[in-house]
Amino acid sequence: MKILMVASEVAPFVRTGGLADVVTALSKVLDKQGHEVKIVLPRYYVINREQLELLEGPMGVPLGFQEVWTAVYKSRIPESNVSVYFIDHEQSYGREGIYGSSTEPDYADNPLRYSLLCHSAFQLCRKLDWFPDVIHAHDWQGALAAILPKYTRQDSKFNKTATVFTVHNMGYQGVYGKHCFPHTGISWEYFYAAGFEDWDRMNFLKAGLVSADVVTTVSPTYAKEIQTPEYGFRMDGVLRFRSDTVRGILNGIDKDSWNPAKDKFIPAKYSVKTLEKKAENKKALQEAMGLPVTDKVPLIGIISRLTDQKGVAELFGPSYGCVPRICNDMKVQFAVLGQGERWCENELRVLSSNLPNLKASIKYDEKLSHLIEAGSDFYLMPSRYEPCGLNQMYSLLYGTLPIVHKTGGLNDTVENYNEETGEGTGFVLDMLSPQSVYDTVGWAVFAWYNKKDHIRKMQERGMKKDFSWERAGKEYEKVYEQALKIHNK
Ligand code: ADP
Ligand code: GLC
Repeated sequence: MKILMVASEVAPFVRTGGLADVVTALSKVLDKQGHEVKIVLPRYYVINREQLELLEGPMGVPLGFQEVWTAVYKSRIPESNVSVYFIDHEQSYGREGIYGSSTEPDYADNPLRYSLLCHSAFQLCRKLDWFPDVIHAHDWQGALAAILPKYTRQDSKFNKTATVFTVHNMGYQGVYGKHCFPHTGISWEYFYAAGFEDWDRMNFLKAGLVSADVVTTVSPTYAKEIQTPEYGFRMDGVLRFRSDTVRGILNGIDKDSWNPAKDKFIPAKYSVKTLEKKAENKKALQEAMGLPVTDKVPLIGIISRLTDQKGVAELFGPSYGCVPRICNDMKVQFAVLGQGERWCENELRVLSSNLPNLKASIKYDEKLSHLIEAGSDFYLMPSRYEPCGLNQMYSLLYGTLPIVHKTGGLNDTVENYNEETGEGTGFVLDMLSPQSVYDTVGWAVFAWYNKKDHIRKMQERGMKKDFSWERAGKEYEKVYEQALKIHNK
């Protein structure tokens, strides 16, 4: 099959979260399974042009009432045949941020920037004389690519092209004033039919949900949750309407990058048979963070975007967050890595200087993220909602027991500890509140001090889990087939 991915982040070129890893890993596995995969991505300023190959000639892209002239660069996903095409347009992408800056978190011209990306995808296919069987669009930024074939006149060579739209996070929908609608290039007569209308504004994600042949999200539990008012971010009705074509496919993880036996970022490599070597990583982590070096106290790791989604209010909220109380009441240590909301970064700086057993690093640091996974005893991820989540899976494979909220992908990957039998792979809280996080951490810490045998068995069980992309790749193949059937019926 010929598959065209349209996304706003692709590892290793640009990455702010799990989306980038998923688009790359999925493309790689589809490539291995014999499909021809191409990806279209903006050439953001952070992506160095010198490492890319410039395609011949500029590319004119029709966009609303104008024609936008772009350049196209090309590269490849390492160790694969997957081509990545970068749309270069100084005015749209020649700035430091990806989605926004510290003063403007969501660039006002994002509707235009991502409409340009999606229109460019079609123009690129014409330029390459390569027409996909399936367009796989990711998140609201890619949504238009799943909408355009239905509501605009395209080359007849796209007639048979089916569309799949994957939602990685319902919390980001791309809602803007209707004055932005002309950028989509879609006629006003389809404003309602294509699903854009949202309380007199326009909503890219909603239109993707309405228009794509098949909608998927990144875990089975999240696929169910988003059909309820609690998790649907107002889209639950639309999703229930389309429920027969909404699928949840659990992300895999990239075992080349996340494998304790060959992780290039950690000082002591280990496997389930040499688990005792994990202690060396704990020591290295304590040293790196400036925590007291000791093996007598459990170490809890956190790596996170510091946003409400991740439960940071319950953890660090001034005066009510539970982490300061945990640090005072229990013999534990915390190593926190993250960046995000300003209040939370500031709070973490304060906690880090006031508490001897908590150290926080406010930055994006890939190497340190690997050391935290390898060196911690527990990994705390009490997300309010979590479409899939990758760190709890890394944690399981690194023998680092996850403490998670029972939601989305966390529910699909972590089994709760049974203190009678010792079964389980982590510690699960049913409902998110500062007190429930406090209690569940307390439960885990108690087990660490008093039930060493249970802890060891849980670590071993987690390390043997299979979160391979091969399984997910096969499921996406089925989704593409379903989309083709629906589209061409
Ligand atoms: P989300 O995409 O919602 O942020 P995921 O769990 O899917 O959540 O993916 C987050 C990814 O980003 C993980 O691979 C995690 O290790 C990484 N990450 C998040 N924050 C940082 C950071 N400050 N430094 C390094 N890696 C980070
Ligand atoms: C989003 C979600 C996260 C998921 C990732 C990749 O960022 O928040 O749960 O793992 O996308 O699908």
